[in-house]
Amino acid sequence: MSKPRILIVFYSRNSSTEILANAIARGAAAEGAEVRLRRARELVGRDLMQQVPGWVDAADAMNEQYPAPTEADAEWADAIVFGTPTRFGSVSSELKAYIDSLGGLWFAGKLNGKAGSVFGSTSSRHGGNEATLLSLYGPMAHLGLIIVPLGYADPAMFKAGTPYGATHVSNQDALTPDGDHLAVAQYQGRRVTSVARALRDPRAA
Ligand SMILES: Cc1cc2nc3c(=O)[nH]c(=O)nc-3n(C[C@H](O)[C@H](O)[C@H](O)COP(=O)(O)O)c2cc1C
Repeated sequence: MSKPRILIVFYSRNSSTEILANAIARGAAAEGAEVRLRRARELVGRDLMQQVPGWVDAADAMNEQYPAPTEADAEWADAIVFGTPTRFGSVSSELKAYIDSLGGLWFAGKLNGKAGSVFGSTSSRHGGNEATLLSLYGPMAHLGLIIVPLGYADPAMFKAGTPYGATHVSNQDALTPDGDHLAVAQYQGRRVTSVARALRDPRAA
Protein backbone atom coordinates (compact mmCIF):
# COMPACT_ATOMS: atom_id res chain seq x y z
CA MET A 1 0.00 0.00 0.00
CA SER A 2 1.53 3.37 -1.00
CA LYS A 3 1.92 6.11 1.58
CA PRO A 4 -0.84 8.72 1.98
CA ARG A 5 0.28 11.90 0.20
CA ILE A 6 -0.03 15.06 2.24
CA LEU A 7 0.43 18.51 0.71
CA ILE A 8 1.05 21.22 3.30
CA VAL A 9 0.78 24.61 1.64
CA PHE A 10 1.27 27.73 3.69
CA TYR A 11 2.11 31.39 3.59
CA SER A 12 4.31 32.82 6.32
CA ARG A 13 6.25 36.05 6.63
CA ASN A 14 7.77 35.77 10.09
CA SER A 15 8.00 31.99 10.54
CA SER A 16 5.19 31.20 13.02
CA THR A 17 3.03 29.54 10.37
CA GLU A 18 6.12 27.95 8.85
CA ILE A 19 7.03 26.37 12.20
CA LEU A 20 3.50 24.97 12.59
CA ALA A 21 3.70 23.62 9.02
CA ASN A 22 6.87 21.73 9.84
CA ALA A 23 5.34 20.25 13.01
CA ILE A 24 2.32 19.07 10.99
CA ALA A 25 4.76 17.53 8.50
CA ARG A 26 6.52 15.67 11.32
CA GLY A 27 3.21 14.34 12.62
CA ALA A 28 2.15 13.25 9.14
CA ALA A 29 5.47 11.52 8.50
CA ALA A 30 5.22 9.73 11.86
CA GLU A 31 1.85 8.37 10.71
CA GLY A 32 3.43 7.09 7.48
CA ALA A 33 2.74 9.94 5.05
CA GLU A 34 4.75 11.22 2.13
CA VAL A 35 4.80 14.98 2.64
CA ARG A 36 5.27 17.97 0.34
CA LEU A 37 5.82 21.35 2.04
CA ARG A 38 5.10 24.33 -0.18
CA ARG A 39 5.15 28.10 0.47
CA ALA A 40 2.78 30.44 -1.37
CA ARG A 41 4.67 33.34 -2.91
CA GLU A 42 4.39 37.08 -2.33
CA LEU A 43 1.95 39.01 -4.49
CA VAL A 44 3.59 42.41 -3.98
CA GLY A 45 6.80 43.76 -5.48
CA ARG A 46 10.14 43.91 -3.70
CA ASP A 47 9.94 47.70 -3.48
CA LEU A 48 6.97 47.38 -1.15
CA MET A 49 8.50 44.40 0.70
CA GLN A 50 11.65 46.44 1.36
CA GLN A 51 9.61 48.91 3.40
CA VAL A 52 9.09 46.18 6.05
CA PRO A 53 12.33 45.31 7.86
CA GLY A 54 13.28 41.66 7.36
CA TRP A 55 10.53 40.76 4.88
CA VAL A 56 12.76 40.37 1.81
CA ASP A 57 15.37 38.29 3.64
CA ALA A 58 12.78 36.05 5.30
CA ALA A 59 10.93 35.50 2.02
CA ASP A 60 14.14 34.72 0.13
CA ALA A 61 15.24 32.21 2.79
CA MET A 62 11.88 30.43 2.86
CA ASN A 63 11.52 30.44 -0.92
CA GLU A 64 14.87 28.73 -1.20
CA GLN A 65 13.70 26.04 1.19
CA TYR A 66 10.14 25.49 -0.04
CA PRO A 67 9.03 25.31 -3.68
CA ALA A 68 6.00 27.32 -4.76
CA PRO A 69 2.78 25.27 -4.71
CA THR A 70 1.47 24.12 -8.09
CA GLU A 71 -1.73 22.64 -9.48
CA ALA A 72 0.19 19.37 -9.85
CA ASP A 73 0.87 19.32 -6.09
CA ALA A 74 -2.86 19.53 -5.35
CA GLU A 75 -3.66 16.81 -7.87
CA TRP A 76 -0.91 14.60 -6.38
CA ALA A 77 -2.18 14.93 -2.82
CA ASP A 78 -4.59 12.72 -0.90
CA ALA A 79 -4.92 15.55 1.64
CA ILE A 80 -4.27 19.29 1.44
CA VAL A 81 -3.46 21.21 4.61
CA PHE A 82 -3.65 25.01 4.27
CA GLY A 83 -1.76 27.33 6.64
CA THR A 84 -1.97 31.12 6.87
CA PRO A 85 -1.18 34.05 9.14
CA THR A 86 -4.30 36.11 9.86
CA ARG A 87 -4.69 39.21 7.74
CA PHE A 88 -7.33 41.59 9.09
CA GLY A 89 -9.30 38.69 10.54
CA SER A 90 -9.09 36.43 7.52
CA VAL A 91 -6.86 34.40 5.20
CA SER A 92 -3.73 35.95 3.65
CA SER A 93 -4.12 36.93 0.00
CA GLU A 94 -0.96 34.95 -0.81
CA LEU A 95 -2.53 31.65 0.29
CA LYS A 96 -5.90 32.60 -1.19
CA ALA A 97 -4.25 33.25 -4.56
CA TYR A 98 -3.04 29.64 -4.57
CA ILE A 99 -6.51 28.36 -3.67
CA ASP A 100 -7.96 30.49 -6.46
CA SER A 101 -5.49 28.94 -8.90
CA LEU A 102 -7.17 25.56 -8.34
CA GLY A 103 -10.23 26.47 -10.44
CA GLY A 104 -9.21 24.16 -13.28
CA LEU A 105 -8.92 21.17 -10.95
CA TRP A 106 -12.21 22.13 -9.32
CA PHE A 107 -13.90 22.30 -12.73
CA ALA A 108 -12.60 18.82 -13.57
CA GLY A 109 -13.74 17.46 -10.19
CA LYS A 110 -10.19 16.41 -9.38
CA LEU A 111 -10.14 17.56 -5.75
CA ASN A 112 -13.45 15.99 -4.79
CA GLY A 113 -13.14 13.61 -1.86
CA LYS A 114 -9.60 14.48 -0.81
CA ALA A 115 -9.09 15.42 2.84
CA GLY A 116 -8.56 19.08 3.78
CA SER A 117 -7.46 20.82 6.97
CA VAL A 118 -6.28 24.26 8.11
CA PHE A 119 -3.94 25.96 10.58
CA GLY A 120 -2.77 29.50 11.27
CA SER A 121 -1.24 32.24 13.37
CA THR A 122 -2.34 35.62 14.71
CA SER A 123 -0.48 38.31 16.57
CA SER A 124 -3.04 38.80 19.34
CA ARG A 125 -5.08 36.37 21.42
CA HIS A 126 -8.42 37.46 20.07
CA GLY A 127 -7.07 38.64 16.73
CA GLY A 128 -9.04 36.24 14.56
CA ASN A 129 -7.38 32.81 14.67
CA GLU A 130 -10.64 30.89 14.71
CA ALA A 131 -12.36 33.26 12.26
CA THR A 132 -9.46 32.81 9.84
CA LEU A 133 -9.57 29.02 10.00
CA LEU A 134 -13.34 29.01 9.56
CA SER A 135 -13.02 31.39 6.60
CA LEU A 136 -11.07 28.63 4.85
CA TYR A 137 -13.77 26.03 5.49
CA GLY A 138 -15.88 27.75 2.78
CA PRO A 139 -13.40 27.38 -0.09
CA MET A 140 -12.62 23.84 1.09
CA ALA A 141 -16.30 22.95 0.84
CA HIS A 142 -16.43 24.39 -2.68
CA LEU A 143 -13.40 22.34 -3.69
CA GLY A 144 -15.11 19.19 -2.41
CA LEU A 145 -12.54 18.52 0.29
CA ILE A 146 -13.59 16.40 3.26
CA ILE A 147 -12.84 18.85 6.07
CA VAL A 148 -10.79 17.36 8.91
CA PRO A 149 -11.17 19.32 12.16
CA LEU A 150 -9.19 18.37 15.24
CA GLY A 151 -11.98 17.99 17.77
CA TYR A 152 -10.80 17.12 21.25
CA ALA A 153 -9.70 13.60 20.41
CA ASP A 154 -6.14 14.07 21.70
CA PRO A 155 -4.87 15.28 25.11
CA ALA A 156 -2.90 18.04 23.32
CA MET A 157 -6.20 19.74 22.48
CA PHE A 158 -6.88 20.50 26.13
CA LYS A 159 -3.74 22.66 26.36
CA ALA A 160 -3.60 24.60 23.08
CA GLY A 161 -4.94 24.98 19.57
CA THR A 162 -8.55 25.07 18.42
CA PRO A 163 -10.88 22.30 17.26
CA TYR A 164 -10.70 23.87 13.78
CA GLY A 165 -6.94 23.49 13.37
CA ALA A 166 -3.56 24.21 14.97
CA THR A 167 -2.97 27.84 15.91
CA HIS A 168 -0.42 30.12 17.51
CA VAL A 169 -0.44 33.63 18.97
CA SER A 170 2.82 35.38 18.12
CA ASN A 171 2.44 38.59 20.16
CA GLN A 172 3.63 40.83 17.33
CA ASP A 173 5.98 38.11 16.10
CA ALA A 174 7.88 38.02 19.41
CA LEU A 175 6.88 34.41 20.18
CA THR A 176 7.27 31.22 18.17
CA PRO A 177 5.00 28.20 18.80
CA ASP A 178 5.74 26.48 22.11
CA GLY A 179 5.67 22.76 22.87
CA ASP A 180 1.91 22.69 23.55
CA HIS A 181 1.09 24.31 20.20
CA LEU A 182 3.57 22.10 18.36
CA ALA A 183 1.95 19.03 19.94
CA VAL A 184 -1.40 20.12 18.49
CA ALA A 185 0.19 20.64 15.07
CA GLN A 186 1.80 17.19 15.16
CA TYR A 187 -1.53 15.68 16.14
CA GLN A 188 -3.09 17.47 13.15
CA GLY A 189 -0.52 15.84 10.87
CA ARG A 190 -1.26 12.40 12.29
CA ARG A 191 -5.01 12.87 12.12
CA VAL A 192 -5.08 14.20 8.56
CA THR A 193 -2.89 11.33 7.44
CA SER A 194 -5.09 8.69 9.02
CA VAL A 195 -8.23 10.26 7.49
CA ALA A 196 -6.54 10.53 4.08
CA ARG A 197 -5.55 6.88 4.31
CA ALA A 198 -9.09 5.84 5.23
CA LEU A 199 -10.63 7.88 2.39
CA ARG A 200 -8.23 6.50 -0.19
CA ASP A 201 -8.02 2.88 0.98
CA PRO A 202 -11.20 2.21 3.01
CA ARG A 203 -10.30 -1.42 3.61
CA ALA A 204 -6.86 -0.52 4.98
CA ALA A 205 -8.24 1.86 7.62
C1 LIG B 1 -1.53 43.25 6.88
C2 LIG B 1 -1.54 42.46 8.16
C3 LIG B 1 -2.74 42.20 8.80
C4 LIG B 1 -2.76 41.50 10.01
N1 LIG B 1 -3.96 41.26 10.62
C5 LIG B 1 -3.99 40.65 11.83
C6 LIG B 1 -5.22 40.44 12.52
O1 LIG B 1 -6.31 40.74 12.03
N2 LIG B 1 -5.17 39.86 13.75
C7 LIG B 1 -3.99 39.51 14.35
O2 LIG B 1 -3.99 39.04 15.49
N3 LIG B 1 -2.81 39.64 13.69
C8 LIG B 1 -2.79 40.21 12.45
N4 LIG B 1 -1.60 40.35 11.78
C9 LIG B 1 -0.37 39.76 12.36
C10 LIG B 1 -0.04 38.35 11.86
O3 LIG B 1 -1.19 37.58 11.61
C11 LIG B 1 0.83 37.64 12.89
O4 LIG B 1 1.99 38.42 13.10
C12 LIG B 1 1.19 36.23 12.55
O5 LIG B 1 1.68 35.59 13.70
C13 LIG B 1 2.27 36.17 11.47
O6 LIG B 1 2.51 34.82 11.11
P1 LIG B 1 3.87 34.43 10.33
O7 LIG B 1 4.99 34.51 11.36
O8 LIG B 1 3.67 33.02 9.88
O9 LIG B 1 4.06 35.39 9.22
C14 LIG B 1 -1.56 41.03 10.56
C15 LIG B 1 -0.34 41.27 9.90
C16 LIG B 1 -0.32 42.00 8.72
C17 LIG B 1 0.99 42.23 8.02
